Amino acid sequence: MSKKITFDYWKHLYADRVASMYSSEIRDLLSLSARPDIISFAGGNPEVRSLNFQKLEKYAKRALRIDGDTSLQYGSSEGYYPFKTRLIEVMKLEDIHVDEEDIVVTTGGQQALDLLAKIFINTGDHIIVEAPSYAGAINSFKSYQPNIIGVPVDEHGIKVDLVEEKLKVLSKQKIQVKFIYLVPNFSNPSGVTLSLERRKKILKLAKQYNTVIIEDNPYGLLRYQGKSIPCIKTLDVKQDDMHVIYMSTMSKLLAPGFRIGWIVAPHLIIQKLNLGVQAADLCTSSFAQRIAYEYFSDPGWVDNIKTFISIYSQRRDTMLNTLSETLPAGCSWSKPEGGFFIWLTLPSYLNAKELLADAIRANVAYVPGSGFYADGRGQNEIRLAFCSERPENIEKGIKILARIIRDKIKLYKSFQ
Ligand SMILES: Cc1ncc(COP(=O)(O)O)c(C=O)c1O
Repeated sequence: MSKKITFDYWKHLYADRVASMYSSEIRDLLSLSARPDIISFAGGNPEVRSLNFQKLEKYAKRALRIDGDTSLQYGSSEGYYPFKTRLIEVMKLEDIHVDEEDIVVTTGGQQALDLLAKIFINTGDHIIVEAPSYAGAINSFKSYQPNIIGVPVDEHGIKVDLVEEKLKVLSKQKIQVKFIYLVPNFSNPSGVTLSLERRKKILKLAKQYNTVIIEDNPYGLLRYQGKSIPCIKTLDVKQDDMHVIYMSTMSKLLAPGFRIGWIVAPHLIIQKLNLGVQAADLCTSSFAQRIAYEYFSDPGWVDNIKTFISIYSQRRDTMLNTLSETLPAGCSWSKPEGGFFIWLTLPSYLNAKELLADAIRANVAYVPGSGFYADGRGQNEIRLAFCSERPENIEKGIKILARIIRDKIKLYKSFQ
């Protein structure tokens, strides 16, 4: 049982950065979303139940039987070399060609973000992110106290002409943008994909203004529709003039419980990241990497991705269809070609946080949009994760949500 303490006796001891560490007002409400009677569109939880647990057990046994000594030992801070060899094959599926030495394995994508923030951000530095952007990235970055510039996205991804404007203005003031953080494929949270034209343009801008792009790509292999677009990393071909740091995670390709992510970067940056790993946790779990190595050594892993795609695409279709059938005029939403999320925009007079209380009461949960903006915008926006619920629950939950939205609109209009 958690004890409620009202006076913080240690306040005078905390570092300044604690004040900028994100505290979610909706956390208590969302903790309810774990209740079994709640239909949750809140968390981006992958469908791990579709994995073959017997096979995983076999991989774990093999990791202990063949390689117990190393699997249970500290590993190198860069990551388990044979596993990196497997990661190279995974990335080749998206036309990314790198060597083992270009990779550092991290404890999930979340640690990758934290390490990148740690090596690049001084207090007051400027960074550019999508608006809305992945809340976990905003949280990580905020604890290093930068100026976060959120540049709006439309259906083709971040508005690159606005990025250019920002870079121009800041460079006139002799301000260096430390990095541009992007989730170009089926973004978390907006679901939109950055067009090829914009990918080329933003890479050109990164070069022109001598900054780097952090390309975060957890969902790239989970495409349900349309043609894949080259990663920005794939476009960044000049070995002596590289401007893309690529990162991804095992969380959506295997399972988040493994806590494995990775970063691909130029060698000098990899060296700094290794120092970061050494200070943070010495190394990513040797045991987890060893089992993941077995998983990716079995060509059947690609079939698991096909299974994931078939499950998620059905859920996406159900959510999109039910939204079209039930939501009133004045609402709009993104149409993701992959990934986990749909971004719903309500009429500007509605407040997504207020609505959440009603939704939870009716056993439906989602995440209000404001947590995905560094400056608290997005009051009338909602992130809907379609990955975790079965189609029948998605249909039921969206119908409930639509009724709540319709009732609120009616109430608002009755006061006009
Ligand atoms: C865009 C993005 N980056 C990073 C992460 C963190 O992933 P991990 O589970 O590997 O920490 C997530 C998780 O949802 C994500 O959506």
